[in-house]
Amino acid sequence: MDWKDNIITKNKMDSIKNFEEKKLVAEKVAEKVKDGQVIGFGSGSTSYLATIAIADKIKRESIHITAIPTSLEIKLLCGYLKIPITTLNDKKPDWSFDGADEVDNNNWLIKGMGGALFKEKLNIVNSPITYILIDKSKRVNKLGEKCKVPVECFPEAISYVKEELTKIGATEIEIREAVSKAGPVITENGNVILDVKFDNITEGLEKKIKSIPGVIESGLFISYKVEIIE
Ligand code: A5P
Repeated sequence: MDWKDNIITKNKMDSIKNFEEKKLVAEKVAEKVKDGQVIGFGSGSTSYLATIAIADKIKRESIHITAIPTSLEIKLLCGYLKIPITTLNDKKPDWSFDGADEVDNNNWLIKGMGGALFKEKLNIVNSPITYILIDKSKRVNKLGEKCKVPVECFPEAISYVKEELTKIGATEIEIREAVSKAGPVITENGNVILDVKFDNITEGLEKKIKSIPGVIESGLFISYKVEIIE
């Protein structure tokens, strides 16, 4: 069996929650793709479906694009679907797309439930616009309603970061546990994820979290150039 046989499987598709809604938004974003563009590719199941929809469009219209993927999963998928990839050091995206875990009425986001958030934020700040692809379950009145805030943390800094997060209002902090591996989730950058509950997420919180030494990045995305597709 070729390793690539594991890339797109029925099990994978069956495991995607709200599949039909996600497939529709994936097709909507694929319509935006134009020949020659460099596009930032997000992570998670909606981005996964968008990658497949974009590959279909490339094939149908015989166009060429280059992707800047934000996770190994999407990078492997791009390889399988023959979408060439590059990095932010070589090219700037014309635009990006990504999923989200929560979106409020200001289009502030929580991301990172899939463990990817650092490269996702890098794509977003490097893009003139990022389309955020969501199904209805992602809409909230107030950020933090359903999800904790993922914080990617350098492993040796866990204790210090926890202390500092508590000082800025964290009421619960859990190290995210891996599934099918003993111990914590290790991100693609070699770090751990702290899932942090804040009772009140305010505009300045993202910067406060980021200023703690040992924090690599947080999954709070406040006031970025995004447009929601749902
Ligand atoms: C990955 O860590 C995330 O930021 C995803 O974009 C987010 O979790 C949305 O994922 P789904 O598209 O799988 O719902």
